[in-house]
Amino acid sequence: MSAAEDEEHSSIIKTPKQLMVVVLAAFVFPVLIIWLLGKYVTGDVPIDQNSRAFSNETVAQRLKPVGELVLASDTSQSGAQSGEGTGEPASAVAPPPATSAAAAPVADAEGPEKIKAIYTASCAACHTTGAAGAPKLGDNAAWSARIKAGNETLYNSALKGKNAMPPKGGNASLSDADVKAVVDYMVSQSK
Ligand code: HEC
Repeated sequence: MSAAEDEEHSSIIKTPKQLMVVVLAAFVFPVLIIWLLGKYVTGDVPIDQNSRAFSNETVAQRLKPVGELVLASDTSQSGAQSGEGTGEPASAVAPPPATSAAAAPVADAEGPEKIKAIYTASCAACHTTGAAGAPKLGDNAAWSARIKAGNETLYNSALKGKNAMPPKGGNASLSDADVKAVVDYMVSQSK
């Protein structure tokens, strides 16, 4: 063995003091790195809690289900939302939000407007979107066989329910005559 080889195998740590520094550094650096990584992963992500994107309203909006059952009696508060709640753009038949039942209770509206308002409030959640397999308003194919069954059958299904279709669309406060008028309206839009 030459002196040069001895030199290669010898450590760069020559004194006890150097050894202590290296041992200490070997503890401190990994701990520091893990601590920094932990901080990076868990906290201090720059989220502006005051931003609109994190307001309770917006979060609720993002989390809410695609379909929404709106009862006619609720329309004074939520009628304008029912179009949005379905996840689809307001359909051609739905009155624009500004003039919809939101402004006036359903019962105050008259004639075709009233029927459309009832449809929007109690039936559109399923029949505008096709949710739960409901025949869509305006979908001739989905309605033709049903229309052939006759008005009485349709009235009966609408009043008493049929499979996933709840009686009176889930709004027991509707009068039979109103439900029938809404069925007529749906049929007329879907022929
Ligand atoms: C919760 C969802 C839902 C709501 C709300 C709803 N429907 Fe339906 N509707 C359905 C489904 C699903 C069907 C298909 C039922 C079947 O044929 O199995 C249906 C079918 C119908 C039919 C056809 C019945 C037949 O005999 O073929 C009529 C008429 C009808 N709905 C009227 C209404 C009216 C009027 C309202 C509002 C007052 C309403 N629906 C609200 C889900 C709904």
